[in-house]
Amino acid sequence: MKIAADHAALYAEQGYLIIPGFKSAADIAALRERALQIVDAFDPGEQRPVFTTEEQQRHVDDYFLDSGDQVRCFFEEEAFDEEGRLRVPKALAINKIGHAMHDLDPVFGAFSKGEALRGVAAALGLARPQVWQSMFIFKQPGIGGEVRWHQDASFFETDPITVTTFWFALEDATLHNGCLWTEPGGHRGQRGVLRERFVREGRRAWMEPLDATPWPAADSAQAIPLEVEAGSLVVFHGLLPHYSAANRSDKSRHAYTLHVTDGASRYSPRNWLQRGAALPVGGF
Ligand code: FE2
Repeated sequence: MKIAADHAALYAEQGYLIIPGFKSAADIAALRERALQIVDAFDPGEQRPVFTTEEQQRHVDDYFLDSGDQVRCFFEEEAFDEEGRLRVPKALAINKIGHAMHDLDPVFGAFSKGEALRGVAAALGLARPQVWQSMFIFKQPGIGGEVRWHQDASFFETDPITVTTFWFALEDATLHNGCLWTEPGGHRGQRGVLRERFVREGRRAWMEPLDATPWPAADSAQAIPLEVEAGSLVVFHGLLPHYSAANRSDKSRHAYTLHVTDGASRYSPRNWLQRGAALPVGGF
């Protein structure tokens, strides 16, 4: 996939790029079908692994910490009633699947690798892409949780910062079902300072504050929604502030993400996700 020079310049200026029609309807259908099979096979037993960015600390447990080289399902926080029972069918209760499907599952692997992705990575300056993590995000109808403002570099710190997010819309993402919001240009200059860092030591992990620069105010002109059609690829810089609202609509907002660093940069040993010799990090 070739990206025109003016697109690379636009990426440098605004911190993200939207490439409509990057994935075909057939590619998307295959990935969504496979995701539903994984959820169907998932037996939570007594576990209630919830994923919420609001309470990143409270919910960091072994199930999460050991998921970097696994395929695991995490529930929406609002999926449970006060007695801890599922309020909706399991297939409509999962927040995300993570975090190594791109290396462990053939269907996800096919979606996550190839010439087109290599081309985008090269055009954006990723000399030696390393794909650390995959996430299938459901943003379920009615209960899809908000993802508060953050920068992905908080989770994938490298020196220098190179983490780049590949965000695939598997369904139309709109203001109604919780599309992405970003701050154009917010990855640069004073706005582009890394505000916090998610660090891990052994079996503990926590968010460490670094800088008090505020996030874009709600309803301010600083933040804009990225309403994109299914099949679009949104690529964005690791320092770009972004957010997505809760989904209160009756439509899901399935998306798939890959987090990629450049092997030329030093990957922090304090990042929560590390790969061992059994499943080393690979490229596109
Ligand atoms: Fe993010």
